Amino acid sequence: MTATVIDGKAFAAKVRGQVAEHVAKLKEEHGITPGLAVVLVGEDPASQVYVKSKGKMTVEVGMKSVEHRMDENVSEAELLAMVQKLNDDPTIHGILVQLPLPGHLNSDLVINSIDPAKDVDGFHISNVGLLGTGQKSMVPCTPLGSLMMLRDHHGSLSGLNAVVIGRSNIVGKPMAQLLLGDSCTVTIAHSRTKDLPSVVRQADIVVAAVGRPQMVLGDWIKPGATVIDVGINRIDKPEGGTRLVGDADYDSCAAVAGAITPVPGGVGPMTIACLLANTLTACCRANG
Ligand code: GUN
Repeated sequence: MTATVIDGKAFAAKVRGQVAEHVAKLKEEHGITPGLAVVLVGEDPASQVYVKSKGKMTVEVGMKSVEHRMDENVSEAELLAMVQKLNDDPTIHGILVQLPLPGHLNSDLVINSIDPAKDVDGFHISNVGLLGTGQKSMVPCTPLGSLMMLRDHHGSLSGLNAVVIGRSNIVGKPMAQLLLGDSCTVTIAHSRTKDLPSVVRQADIVVAAVGRPQMVLGDWIKPGATVIDVGINRIDKPEGGTRLVGDADYDSCAAVAGAITPVPGGVGPMTIACLLANTLTACCRANG
């Protein structure tokens, strides 16, 4: 079997188009422009690339984009004061503090200082609790984008066996909650899971979110299963230079799976599209 390639790039462009239409309508009919603020602490090159790309796409869908760059050595009090300023700013509907933060800053404290209604990452403890209890919340962007692709490909996910590899607060745990919400039978596997290949072989849906390049191999995959690859890893090419790969070994998995998301061009673009969708949602909720 050769897997259907789930085109996240095209899907994300469609979602951004829908967001842009809504934004135009909001402006025309109500004079409201959704605003997204991104706070970046330090000079991490990968974070800078993400933030630049987020800013560009925010403007492209017609939203206000604000970027606050803070020094690597910023104090926690200064960062908290910045978040408070954005919480109080009525032109800002979404706030994202780029992670990871430098080690001297308490990420949990900072994230939980964001107004939950503006927490477009869905990382605030209130949103985590709301998602866990099936209530209306802000849903983390990477799991949300992954779920949208799964629903689009499968229609109903009810009764399917899903194995999420990775237990992070950003991806693994919320992904499991969303799949449970769609009536999957969910297993969360991780680095201590015994005989991971045999656990993954039970899955109709595999979500690879471990952060280890090309770890999930084709002979772990049940024939016809869907593989959602959340990983973005840069590896050296034998001939020199680097390339991006996922957490799944693409060629061997694509030979067995029914469907697979590529890296790049799979989950990544959907994450940003969902961030914009969440910002629009936050703006609509703020304005009744
Ligand atoms: N760093 C890597 N991915 C993310 C994300 O989705 N949100 C935030 N805030 N930081 C990140």
